[in-house]
Amino acid sequence: MDHMFDAAREAQRAWARVPLWRRAEALHKAAALLKQNKDVIAECLVKEVAKPAKDSVTEVVRSADFIDYTAEEGIRILSEGKCLVPDSFPGNERNKLCLSSRIPLGVVLAIPPFNYPVNLSVSKIAPALIAGNAVVVKPPMQGSVAALHMIQCFHLAGFPKGLISAITIKVADLGDALTTHPAINCISFTGGDSGIAIAKRAGMVPLQMELGGKDACIVLDDADLDLAAANIIKGGFSFSGQRCTAVKIVLAMDTIANKLVEKVNVKVARLSVGPPEVDSDITPVVSESSADFIEGLVMDARQKGAKLWQEYRREGNLIWPILIDNVRPDMRITWEEPFGPIIPVIRIRTIEEGVQHCNSSRYGLQGCVFTNNIHRALIVSDAMETGTVQINSAPARGPDHFPFQGLRDSGIGSQGITNSIHMMTKVKSTVINLP
Ligand code: G3H
Repeated sequence: MDHMFDAAREAQRAWARVPLWRRAEALHKAAALLKQNKDVIAECLVKEVAKPAKDSVTEVVRSADFIDYTAEEGIRILSEGKCLVPDSFPGNERNKLCLSSRIPLGVVLAIPPFNYPVNLSVSKIAPALIAGNAVVVKPPMQGSVAALHMIQCFHLAGFPKGLISAITIKVADLGDALTTHPAINCISFTGGDSGIAIAKRAGMVPLQMELGGKDACIVLDDADLDLAAANIIKGGFSFSGQRCTAVKIVLAMDTIANKLVEKVNVKVARLSVGPPEVDSDITPVVSESSADFIEGLVMDARQKGAKLWQEYRREGNLIWPILIDNVRPDMRITWEEPFGPIIPVIRIRTIEEGVQHCNSSRYGLQGCVFTNNIHRALIVSDAMETGTVQINSAPARGPDHFPFQGLRDSGIGSQGITNSIHMMTKVKSTVINLP
């Protein structure tokens, strides 16, 4: 591992001196190669993480677009510098000039999750590289083949040896050796609670952590219920609910809850369940332990009196989609993140009750509100303590240049292309003292 970090540091020093337009050119090349190889990489995603075939291709294309956009945004951000004169500060004369611009941090450690092994790798790699950093990637166990193919595209695009490395050893075998390595100058992590432990042990390095969510969907009594139902389905069941931005709790006002649940149930019945190769809507979740965990949440809710609108069904890691109604605060599903195809519904009497529920969660990633009254929407958005609130649409990270951040246990820092470039650079000043 030391050898890898030494090589990264050496390559980084040279890379930082490569003209910005050439760094951008190399990124565009990698993006083109990624697009050329989209089918083979998508096939890996299908096989490794059971992502539906079409969504797998979308992930690769989205990643190539991400790289292109980052190259262009990097040119804009990093070509700008500042010149300050001192005499605006009391007691100073006009006798010096302060020139500042952004410089790379050094070596960025990128730890992406299994649900977007390509896209959430690229969203760390591309901003790091355009800014003149080296990157060490720790791909997820499941998804590592897709991630390695993607990294190969960077190598084929001509990025120097040592600048982008991947380490595929099991995290359990690594202990803290990787995340606390002294050569690391920045950590960008997306995943679960293990990120909290990483953050606590990390040294004096900037952190960008995205650690999950319990995204609430508040549906008010004046909402377009067809729109809300469609978004609950899309938001809750895309990739079988294995997204940090999935709708993970519906907070529906009593007066419209029955109608909403009925509409959602009609759509749940239409979801196809099966293998990812044929683009089933619901595919097997990533591991047996994950399926067991989801099952535990469903059983707990059922035993405590929640209503399961669909019969609970599981074959191996494949779990059929379920809407769980009449959920109460004493049930685990109210607070825990299932990362699976289940959506709990809590009926609320007032808007304040919905907002208070959302703000009581340890997570604060995103949330959404459905209403036809923009003033109510803005009041709810203002009151919801989450990194982003979507009005009349399901939570989502993209478009990828939008800021993306979580409050409380959902994370540290902000993502999105511009924010990531800023985060992976530092301001450097040179002061010219005039005679
Ligand atoms: O799983 C976490 C991702 O950041 C969510 O991204 O909203 O594009 O699915 P997404």
